[in-house]
Amino acid sequence: MARKLCAGNWKMNGTGPALEELRAMAAGLDALGREAPETLICPPATLLHRAATIATDTALRVGAQDCHAAESGAHTGDLSAAMLAEAGAAYVIVGHSERRQDHGEDDAQVRAKAEAAQAAGLTPIVCVGETLAQREAGEALPVIAAQVAGSLPRDGALVLAYEPVWAIGTGKVAGPAEIAEVHEALRRQLTELLGEEAAARVPLLYGGSVKAGNAAEIFAVPEVDGALVGGASLKAADFMPIVEALGQA
Ligand code: PGA
Repeated sequence: MARKLCAGNWKMNGTGPALEELRAMAAGLDALGREAPETLICPPATLLHRAATIATDTALRVGAQDCHAAESGAHTGDLSAAMLAEAGAAYVIVGHSERRQDHGEDDAQVRAKAEAAQAAGLTPIVCVGETLAQREAGEALPVIAAQVAGSLPRDGALVLAYEPVWAIGTGKVAGPAEIAEVHEALRRQLTELLGEEAAARVPLLYGGSVKAGNAAEIFAVPEVDGALVGGASLKAADFMPIVEALGQA
């Protein structure tokens, strides 16, 4: 079975004072001890190094929200995976729907970023998910399958996150049956792409309006190994109950 992972994505939120929340999360994890699942916060890149310093010698891990596919070069404003690793990241999110939408990133770019992350020693969290229009047209499963086929590296350490675009930041959560249908299809596709043993090791995260109040129900869904949490990861008081729910699932 894949390990459990609770990942927080702070998106474009947080300056120095937000690190107090990170400190509280690290302390909360230490209090949970062996009950705690692997827990990760992806702050804005400007906070990464300070966050990693705070997380040193705690159970909390720190990651980045995006990377460039190239090792270096003329890419103003971008950051390479090696830079993020040096700043203390252990993971990097790639292909988040906000990157796909706002920056026009396609599957091939996402795969190149994921492979660059692996080459720098980071574990990529590859995101896929359908829009509302695609779901309503009955195309959710083929759309997601095409994203996975195009975006996923074929070996190496990997996390896959299913994030229905219509559930992100909207308060709308996919129902257990919808999540189960997608996650079971994802595990089957992973098995085809990577082989049974490697596929079984890939944590499958659900993301989209995960909160303390719905976390236990989501974590009870077959093939859900954890969550990618946006809004509810900004405050320790909101995030730690989700972490605890995963630990108990
Ligand atoms: P949300 O975001 O939890 O605020 O819906 C999830 C995500 O985009 O990772």
